[in-house]
Amino acid sequence: MRRETQLHYAAWRRRTLSDLSGRVAVVTGANGGLGFETARGLLSLHARVILACRDAGKGEAARARLLAGFPDAALDLLTLDLSRRASISDFAARLAALAPKIDLFVHCAGVYYPRESRTPDGLPATVGINYVGTVELDRVTEPLLSPDGRAVFVTSLVDRKGRVNLDPLADDEPDGYRAYARSKFLLSGYVFRKSAARIPGEPLYLAAHPGITKTPLLSKEKTGPRPLWSRLGHALIYPFTQSPEKASLSILEAAAGKAENGDLFAPRGLFQIWGYPKKISFSRQVREAVKTHPERFDF
Ligand SMILES: NC(=O)c1ccc[n+]([C@@H]2O[C@H](COP(=O)([O-])OP(=O)(O)OC[C@H]3O[C@@H](n4cnc5c(N)ncnc54)[C@H](OP(=O)(O)O)[C@@H]3O)[C@@H](O)[C@H]2O)c1
Repeated sequence: MRRETQLHYAAWRRRTLSDLSGRVAVVTGANGGLGFETARGLLSLHARVILACRDAGKGEAARARLLAGFPDAALDLLTLDLSRRASISDFAARLAALAPKIDLFVHCAGVYYPRESRTPDGLPATVGINYVGTVELDRVTEPLLSPDGRAVFVTSLVDRKGRVNLDPLADDEPDGYRAYARSKFLLSGYVFRKSAARIPGEPLYLAAHPGITKTPLLSKEKTGPRPLWSRLGHALIYPFTQSPEKASLSILEAAAGKAENGDLFAPRGLFQIWGYPKKISFSRQVREAVKTHPERFDF
C-alpha cells in the first residue's frame, strides 16, 4: 500500500482489504466526512478514484487534499447533484465518457434533514436524495459496472424502525430523525431486494453502515432546525463514537474486502455504534418489508 503511514488501522487494512491496482472506483459525497475517508482508503489500495461531489469548489478542495497524500494518484472529479434528476443523467453521461468501465461504485452521499423540504424536482428532500436520487444514480450507471464489480450503499443503523411508509413520494416526516430513518430503511430494502435478484455474472450489491461518527452531516449549515432532544442526544453520544476514518472501515470492507453478494458490514461494537466491521444481517423489519412488498423496491 502506498503512504500507509498517513492512515491508521494499517494492520486491519493489510489483513482485510485487497489491492485495487487497475480498478476504477467512484465515490459519491467524497468531498467530506465518510466519503472522503473512503476515497482516501481506496487510493491507498491503488485504485483510480473518481470523486462525485455536489459542489465543485468543495470537490476541488478535497481533490487537492487527497493529492497531497497521494501525489501520483489517478484522481478525477465530477459534479453530481442527487436532488436533480437532470444532474444524475448528465453525471452518468460524463462518467461514461471519462471511464467506460467502473469496478466499484460507492454510494455514500446523503443528507440528514436538509433545510429545504423539497428537492428542485418536487420530491420530499430527505427520501428524495438518500433514496430516490441514489437509486436513480444506480439505475443509470449500472451498465458501466463491470460484471465482477461491486455497488456499495451506505445505510444507517437507524434503518430498522418499525413501520415506515414505503411510498418514496410520501412527504418526509416532520422531524428529521424519522425522515432520515425512513430514507435509510428504503435504501437498505433496495439493496436487499437488488442483491436477491442478482443473477451470476452480475456485479455484487452490498451495503455498509458506519455506526455513528461526527461529520458535518448534522451541522447547522446542512440541517433544518432540530428539536432539543436530537441536539442533546447527539452531543451526549458523540464523545463515545469513533472517528470518520474508523467508521469508513465498514464501507471499505464492503468495497475491497472478502464479500459476497448481499452482505452488509457494520461496526462490531456495542449497539453497532463503533468498532471494526463485521458482517451482519439486514434487519428483520427491512427483510419483512421486502418480502411483503417487493414491488415497492423495484425501479
Ligand atoms: N455520520 C454518521 O454518523 C452516519 C451514520 C450512518 C450513516 N451515515 C451516512 O454516511 C453518508 C455520508 O455522511 P457523512 O456523515 O460523511 O456526512 P457529510 O460529511 O455531510 O457527507 C455527506 C456527503 O453527501 C453529499 N451530498 C449531500 N446532498 C447531496 C446531493 N443532493 N447530491 C450529491 N451529494 C450530496 C455532501 O455534499 P456537501 O458537502 O456539498 O453537502 C457530502 O459530500 C451519508 O449517506 C449518511 O447518511 C452517516
